[in-house]
Amino acid sequence: MQRKLVQTKDNSFTLFVPELDEHYHSIHGALAEAEHIFIDAGLKPIEDRNSISILEIGFGSGLNACLTALYADAQGLNIFYQGLEKYPVLEEEWRALNYPSIINQPGVEQMMVNLHAAPWSEKTRLNSQFQLLKSQVDFREFRAEENTFDLIYFDAFAPSAQANLWSLAVFAEMYKSLKVGGRLVTYCVKGSVRRTMQEAGFTVEKIPGPPGKREMARALKLSEK
Ligand SMILES: C[S@@+](CC[C@H](N)C(=O)[O-])C[C@H]1O[C@@H](n2cnc3c(N)ncnc32)[C@H](O)[C@@H]1O
Repeated sequence: MQRKLVQTKDNSFTLFVPELDEHYHSIHGALAEAEHIFIDAGLKPIEDRNSISILEIGFGSGLNACLTALYADAQGLNIFYQGLEKYPVLEEEWRALNYPSIINQPGVEQMMVNLHAAPWSEKTRLNSQFQLLKSQVDFREFRAEENTFDLIYFDAFAPSAQANLWSLAVFAEMYKSLKVGGRLVTYCVKGSVRRTMQEAGFTVEKIPGPPGKREMARALKLSEK
């Protein structure tokens, strides 16, 4: 998959895939989007903060994982983080992204290196708060144990580019893998996607979106299906 580096409106960079005409993040601000959707709307509202399990659909540049690890460190949270990715970002690509200088928090540069240096398919402890498992797998082939995750970051490319990743089969697997009370967050609020999530069992709410996007979706697992 060919990728190009582009700058977004908050000065953070992202990657662009010409073949799909898709960006890895919002062009209105990659960092602003990641913080709003995944940290503010996904992670921060979790009440039981002793031990949190997160599944990311689309590990990509590692930005969401990095923000999560920094938040875990600052808040003293204990996080297990599994990131799925079929087309890993190359070292020359992630090193060219300017997240450490834009995020500007102690430890961010080393955390980015550690996230990418961690081996695939092996649980790796990156610090006392954060354990990572990167799985190089197609989302459609991923099978999770039931009731495993508290939170899913659903960050696939848009349904207009990869409709088959937003299918009932994929959302049914997401639903199964969440604990009751768990939630999935995504930037996509398309009606057909929300209906597919509902069919899979989710209770879906639209909430305010990041810069450049009026709304985002938060889908809750309130009971076993
Ligand atoms: C929107 S980007 C994810 C951005 C990422 N969360 C980040 O912070 O950089 C979507 C990701 O899905 C990956 N992807 C695309 N098709 C896939 C598939 N069938 N299975 C697994 N990963 C896939 C892409 O390589 C890309 O990294």
